[in-house]
Amino acid sequence: MHTSPDPAKFYLLATLLAKDRVITNNGRALLKELILRRDKRLLMLLQDFETTHLSDVFVNAIHALIETEAHALYLELFEQFPLEVAKSLSKIEREANELNNKKSLIYGEIDFQYFARVLRKINPTKGCKFYDLGSGSSKALFVARFLYDFKCCCGIEILGGLNEAADSIVQEFRRNFAKTLDASFRQDVHVECASFLDTDWSDGDVVFANSTCFEDDLMADMGKQAEKLKPGAFFITFTKGLGSDAFEVLERKRYCMSWGTATVFIQARKRHDGTSAYHADLIEIIDDSSYDDDFDNGVPGNCTHAALSLLPPLYEKDANESGDGGMHFFDLGALLPRSVHSGFRIEACEGANQPVRSPR
Ligand SMILES: C[S@@+](CC[C@H](N)C(=O)[O-])C[C@H]1O[C@@H](n2cnc3c(N)ncnc32)[C@H](O)[C@@H]1O
Repeated sequence: MHTSPDPAKFYLLATLLAKDRVITNNGRALLKELILRRDKRLLMLLQDFETTHLSDVFVNAIHALIETEAHALYLELFEQFPLEVAKSLSKIEREANELNNKKSLIYGEIDFQYFARVLRKINPTKGCKFYDLGSGSSKALFVARFLYDFKCCCGIEILGGLNEAADSIVQEFRRNFAKTLDASFRQDVHVECASFLDTDWSDGDVVFANSTCFEDDLMADMGKQAEKLKPGAFFITFTKGLGSDAFEVLERKRYCMSWGTATVFIQARKRHDGTSAYHADLIEIIDDSSYDDDFDNGVPGNCTHAALSLLPPLYEKDANESGDGGMHFFDLGALLPRSVHSGFRIEACEGANQPVRSPR
């Protein structure tokens, strides 16, 4: 006889998964919300679990559910501050202060799903500290906050308008969202208006910089400062690595972001004697291979579509001239399937100022 799965059993399972660090405490809290709502997807999953066992596919499905729930909260939190609003806040301030030629201030945002995927590979432990250097309207901070048990998620942003927006989002989170997450620790989020070159973030365990547009000297100064992090600390950068011998690159892979794709570098601080401080493997994620560095291995369909829709401007504009739109052009070559590529060698690597096409 068919019986409906017992949600209490599922909560017990979620607690065990959290204990074994398969999911986070915040992940368990989000599952609890789904249990209370008797979410159909969850009940179906539980039914499958009762007839099979704890497989990678099951664990992956649990993570997908947690991420969907976190994403819904994230969209609600940022309802008043979509990408376009943050972009225009950045633009207004840059124009008012004649900063349009500062490439490092060009605005772009992480994509929730792909950034969640990067964090999941690292699987940060409870009580770690997360920093976003150049935190914009705080999108990356809240992917980290909703999904992981960080002691604190701290953002440092140089533009006042963006930081004010981020601060109002933090207040809204405290008022209406924090209570949905695990109650056993403070769900701290903090944003600060400053240059990350003038602030101390040496206590970070996971540090992120959406560095696609950072100039070489800014990148070098940030890399130097990153050497103050403790051995084993992670540093995630986009498009270029830190370029410091004090770090080892654990992985570089392409992911979709708000402007197209970016190569994501996951780096770890070495020990002071130069040996590796990271002995585990990054968490393997099902279906991650399609984002391998080499575009011949295939690209996600929606990205390819986005790439095609952006194709004409790639050839017409210099990333430096195009303001925020420039973010769209850096990595486009990597998105194009062979059929589109053939006949041209696209030299528009990430960070290149002038995308060029030349006949093969
Ligand atoms: C591409 S946006 C990334 C926003 C956010 N981290 C995300 O990924 O969604 C880069 C941000 O870095 C900021 N920025 C650039 N240089 C900075 C500096 N020296 N200190 C603090 N913020 C900086 C820019 O103003 C911009 O908002």
